[in-house]
Amino acid sequence: MTANELRSKYIEFFKSKNHVEISGQSLIPENDPSVLFTTAGMHPLVPYLLGEKHPAGTRLTDYQKCVRTGDIDEVGDPSHLTCFEMLGNWSLGDYFKKESIAYSYEFLTSPKWLGLDPKKLSVTVFAGDESAPRDEEAASYWKENGMPEDKIAYLPASDNWWAAGPTGPCGPDTEIFYWVGEGLPPEGSNKGTDSKNWLEIWNNVFMQFNRIDEKTLEKLPKQNVDTGMGLERTNCILQGKTSVYLTEVFQPIIKAIEALSGYTYGTDEEKDRSVRIIADHERAAVFIIGDPKGISPSNVGAGYVLRRLIRRAVRHGMKLGIEKAFLAEVAGAVIDNFKCAYPELETNREKICRELTAEEDKFRITLKKGEAEFQKLLPNLMKNPKKIISGKVAYNLYETYGFPLELTQELGAENGFTVDTDGFKEAERKHQEASKSADAGQAKGGLAEQSDVATKYHTATHLLQQALINVLGDQVAQKGSNINNERMRFDFTFDRPMTKEEIQKVEDIVNEKIKEDLPVTMEIKTLEEAKAEGARALFASKYGEQVKVYTVGRDVKNDWFSKEVCGGPHVQHTAQIGDFKIQKEQSSSAGVRRIRAVISGGLPLENS
Ligand code: ALA
Repeated sequence: MTANELRSKYIEFFKSKNHVEISGQSLIPENDPSVLFTTAGMHPLVPYLLGEKHPAGTRLTDYQKCVRTGDIDEVGDPSHLTCFEMLGNWSLGDYFKKESIAYSYEFLTSPKWLGLDPKKLSVTVFAGDESAPRDEEAASYWKENGMPEDKIAYLPASDNWWAAGPTGPCGPDTEIFYWVGEGLPPEGSNKGTDSKNWLEIWNNVFMQFNRIDEKTLEKLPKQNVDTGMGLERTNCILQGKTSVYLTEVFQPIIKAIEALSGYTYGTDEEKDRSVRIIADHERAAVFIIGDPKGISPSNVGAGYVLRRLIRRAVRHGMKLGIEKAFLAEVAGAVIDNFKCAYPELETNREKICRELTAEEDKFRITLKKGEAEFQKLLPNLMKNPKKIISGKVAYNLYETYGFPLELTQELGAENGFTVDTDGFKEAERKHQEASKSADAGQAKGGLAEQSDVATKYHTATHLLQQALINVLGDQVAQKGSNINNERMRFDFTFDRPMTKEEIQKVEDIVNEKIKEDLPVTMEIKTLEEAKAEGARALFASKYGEQVKVYTVGRDVKNDWFSKEVCGGPHVQHTAQIGDFKIQKEQSSSAGVRRIRAVISGGLPLENS
């Protein structure tokens, strides 16, 4: 079986259990200022897990590209990835533990589906604490399906309680593991007795709670199931391979790296690690830039993560002896390998290669300067018997030469040094305090307040898009957008700079629509129906998929200003947005313009 087949089989299985396939979403969560990337399949579904009605029903399934940088330092080993695909199925107040466990067991072991040897499976369930009882219920369903008692480990919340973040939907989970040791697992072996030889492949979360804050856990209105299966890992064990990098998911990328470096994978452990890091980071970078809401390398937020991924890949390329810019070439292999499941990569091929090359070129210059400076410092550093590079020295390399901390750590480690990272953070903090700029410290306010601002910006984005089309014509199409609590950015296709008059006109139209205080309404219909009514849709969806359509206007049929297929949320009426001001209009890339705009004031949102 290949990863492509596994993806299809998973969806097909859950469709056969009356689930509706929904489209995976962007890697960049639009209305959630608390995270930089979509980190799990459930992420775009948070409002529905909290109780909102999903347009496609109560049983859903999809595949979702995810980026998690929490264990970026582990990347390079055989199984950790920053960018991965999650296969998911959900019950929104529909079935619960019994069916969820039965479905998972059937999919994994039935010869009709994956046909895995039940002897090589084990599970964990929640051991219980003050939040929820020991999950004898889940354990009993596992036993009903044939899982022997000694293959069920009861583990504490650190293992068997799942939450996407410090607040939001969460609950106890049951996790499924596959034996990756030699032969068959010994009698009585499970995750509790042997954590090394059992690899997690699937997690079924029983989401019954909403964490409000550290102390408060509320019961959700409905009991939900949220599951996530790691596509790359499951594919790997199905093929009996010892590493995800040995499967067809990564092999074409590794072949491209081999061709460029002349190094043969599998001959040197240290170099293999570099190859794996390049392969993983390159794939992550391609997916991030190639996302319909693609972002560019920068010094803040998601853009900074992207920059780090690219820069680390370049460094490891150099370790393999690749002297010239190579990321764009490897990107070709990534795009070819994933364009079937993620067509946006093909659409954005040119942009992906261009952005990678620009960042790589810039970084190579930075590196040369930084490394030379490091070498100059080395004789002095060697005098330090503790072999510690002070935070001040590391910060100075960063501040003056743009040389990132991670690289000072790596270069240091190559010479037997550790870096005082606490000292680095301290130096950074002092520096920031010293240069406290006008907009520092603006991200104040609670999470609820922040997300209200994001909601207002989100509706402003819809108004802006329509105003641009009215002024500049149909050539305008959204290429990306990005919102934080201080501003919005909107990228769109247009082949020349806008004139001052055009900018003014667009701003005036948006403000006029805000003043008219138009209602914002939501309807659920199929994508085809929505498009037939003239709704704009940034994402391709599955044929016949039920989607949300947001309309700004007095009458959704006859008198509307803007209509877009979109997940929301939005303001209830436009006067809540406040004053709209375009601050900048500039080039983003060839044929793409970027507008930066801010809003201020506006009426408060209702019920929030
Ligand atoms: N949301 C769960 C996870 O990511 C399924 O593991």
